[in-house]
Amino acid sequence: MACSSGFGCLWIFLSFLLTGCTTGYPRQDTSGSSEDVRNCTTVPPYLPPTAVDTSERLSALRLRMQSYNLSAYIVPATDAHMSEYIGERDKRLAWMTGFTGSSGTGVITLQKAVLFTDSRYWIQAERQMDCNWELQKLVWISSIGQWILDEVPFGGSIGLDPFLFSIDDWGSYQQVLVSSNRTLVPIDDNLVDLVWGSQRPLPSTSMIYPLPDNFTGSTWQAKVSQIRTQMEDHTKKPTAVLLSNLEETAWLFNLRGDDIPYTPVFYAYTLLTKTTISLFVNQSRLTEAASRSLTAGCPGQLCVSTEEYEQVSASLRRYAQQDGVRIWIGTEYTTLGLYKEIPLEKLLTEDYSPVMITKAVKNLKEQQMMRAAHVRDAVAMIRYLVWLEKEVGNGSVNELSGARYVDHLRGEELYCRGPSFETISASGLNAALAHYSPSSTTSRTLTADEMYLVDSGGQYLDGTTDITRTVHWGEPTDFQKEAYTRVLMGNIDLFRLVFPSRTSGRMVEALARRPLWEVGLNYGHGTGHGIGNFLSVHEWPVGFQSNNVPLEKGMFTSIEPGYYKDGEFGIRLEDIALVVEAQTKYQAAGEPYLTFEVVSLVPYARNLINVSLLSQKQIQYIDNYHELIRQHIGPELQRRHLQEEYQWLQRNTQPLSCASLLAASLSTLAVGTLASNLLPGTQN
Ligand SMILES: *[C@@H]1O[C@H](CO)[C@@H](O)[C@H](O)[C@H]1NC(C)=O
Ligand SMILES: *[C@@H]1O[C@H](CO)[C@@H](O)[C@H](O)[C@H]1NC(C)=O
Ligand SMILES: *[C@@H]1O[C@H](CO)[C@@H](O)[C@H](O)[C@H]1NC(C)=O
Ligand SMILES: *[C@@H]1O[C@H](CO)[C@@H](O)[C@H](O)[C@H]1NC(C)=O
Ligand SMILES: *[C@@H]1O[C@H](CO)[C@@H](O)[C@H](O)[C@H]1NC(C)=O
Ligand SMILES: *[C@@H]1O[C@H](CO)[C@@H](O)[C@H](O)[C@H]1NC(C)=O
Ligand SMILES: *[C@@H]1O[C@H](CO)[C@@H](O)[C@H](O)[C@H]1NC(C)=O
Repeated sequence: MACSSGFGCLWIFLSFLLTGCTTGYPRQDTSGSSEDVRNCTTVPPYLPPTAVDTSERLSALRLRMQSYNLSAYIVPATDAHMSEYIGERDKRLAWMTGFTGSSGTGVITLQKAVLFTDSRYWIQAERQMDCNWELQKLVWISSIGQWILDEVPFGGSIGLDPFLFSIDDWGSYQQVLVSSNRTLVPIDDNLVDLVWGSQRPLPSTSMIYPLPDNFTGSTWQAKVSQIRTQMEDHTKKPTAVLLSNLEETAWLFNLRGDDIPYTPVFYAYTLLTKTTISLFVNQSRLTEAASRSLTAGCPGQLCVSTEEYEQVSASLRRYAQQDGVRIWIGTEYTTLGLYKEIPLEKLLTEDYSPVMITKAVKNLKEQQMMRAAHVRDAVAMIRYLVWLEKEVGNGSVNELSGARYVDHLRGEELYCRGPSFETISASGLNAALAHYSPSSTTSRTLTADEMYLVDSGGQYLDGTTDITRTVHWGEPTDFQKEAYTRVLMGNIDLFRLVFPSRTSGRMVEALARRPLWEVGLNYGHGTGHGIGNFLSVHEWPVGFQSNNVPLEKGMFTSIEPGYYKDGEFGIRLEDIALVVEAQTKYQAAGEPYLTFEVVSLVPYARNLINVSLLSQKQIQYIDNYHELIRQHIGPELQRRHLQEEYQWLQRNTQPLSCASLLAASLSTLAVGTLASNLLPGTQN
């Protein structure tokens, strides 16, 4: 999980807004002393050392605004590709405000400067912003628009960079401001960049490389042909597809880079027509092997011509001026800047491009690679859990050092290229903040008195991983056990579901909540998100939100119910699931029914499970799951001579069914015979 802003992150962000803002959803840790945060009511204002002085940059920005006759200017937190994680060069909001949280919107008028962000970030904003900035605890575009209406006089203009707003977001702002006698003005020059000037970090210069053949699902040529076939088959007969999300281009050409933290992509656009392929990228950054791969089919329809990244608008405009063309774009993530270049009658707008949809369904080789990555990932996780069991007792591990160690253990695994997001390592009350990542000021020592939650993942050449486990090394309370067990029950119930092809995730996600709902509990985030092969850890558009695509065979999604007790503890159990065909008693006439197959292979915490809350089918599921882990991870641990970890695995994957039957039987049945029947099954 670990979600920030951007398009890939909508899954959790939206549901967070829906359920989290005004209810009892955990707030940011407020235990920090008042010296931590600014106080703008004192004279002079009190600013903590973490606050950034923005007076000069704000005056400079306002001068620029005046030269464009603007009454207001909007600064979002994303980049030109609607990326979830963004490069330093694109952190305009952070530079303008001082606030480094990943989600928010800044609006600057000639008199005021305001940051809009959600409750996860309120304290952080008070620590980082100076008193030039007002904090508005709102996030919907409609409320930002309303604020603008209140501040900007009749006839005023509101500026924005059209390359930082998706068509859909632009539409939402328009809707609020339309017929209000204020004008939204797209300005191609980014005013923040003009003020930032030479201090702004330079573009990435690292190399863009091809994935080795044995880490690709199919050749890029096969992918291009597949997309062209979908263009042919479309009733609106598009002649071209424009790709502006970075994962789309990386996936299509089997290329990777490291322009963005945690996601192995590079800045690029692609214009794929029926006969030509244009890749907009800084050509001198391509390795020789990458160039060779792209030009192997030249001249011809499978020849990639490279153009400079900055040329995308001009080139798109030229193409769009030709007769008889129609360009397919995804409106959820294509920017207004590119959209403006295409005459309306030459547009084919859908939520997603065909590449986005095709990428979401993994073929057999991609599935097999994903499983292989998860075996190595499980080894790293198990090594971490074993290490924690030993180290926590002497008080030498804190959240931060734990996070570093699990990242290190992953880094030792074959094909690992680093974490897939910032590790969430949270003890006690910190874990009640679902999006918490430790920092030097908040890091708690891990102890046997507190529950500990670790949500982490890796980028491996063959697959991206993301898993959450929650543990307790001491005596959990009855309530903690019940909450953990109910979260686990939700996870299991969704995994066990059999459903028709193309069922929407939104329709079934309540199953993961039901065991919690039954007793008046819930969680304030989404139930899961898609995931890529050495791509994004939050791969849109798969998941359980209303705006996700229906579930299909070959898709991967996380399933991650949780429970958060404000000020006390947090629980989340996250596993990656593959959508597979189900074996049903009756065969449906059309497409087969589907179910989920678990891909993550790390045992659950036995001391947190209250077996008597579980149904026989749930117990059976856990036992089967633990047996699966033994089969897949046991031999791997032995092969590597990880004896201690192997013993741990044996202990932690023993069947629950025997233990529970035994417990139940002790009071009612003749213990002797039953126990002697059962015990052999529990031994190894
Ligand atoms: C700011 O300072 C004023 C005056 O000293 C005090 O009354 C107020 O509680 C402070 N506010 C915060 C948020 O610390
Ligand atoms: C700003 O407004 C003035 C006066 O109406 C006009 O002369 C000028 O061209 C405008 N500048 C821009 C960049 O639109
Ligand atoms: C819009 O604002 C302009 C400038 O203030 C004014 O001249 C005009 O009458 C306004 N129109 C409406 C419909 O309010
Ligand atoms: C393209 O990449 C090269 C090599 O990394 C770099 O020197 C150059 O400045 C880049 N060009 C642009 C336009 O960013
Ligand atoms: C991929 O191919 C290379 C070279 O043929 C080989 O060394 C490597 O082991 C292969 N990796 C996998 C995962 O098959
Ligand atoms: C913590 O305790 C374990 C087991 O008792 C021991 O092996 C380890 O070295 C200790 N670590 C530290 C940092 O004291
Ligand atoms: C386990 O759940 C049962 C059934 O709700 C309850 O009676 C029992 O007290 C629970 N045990 C623990 C240790 O929480």
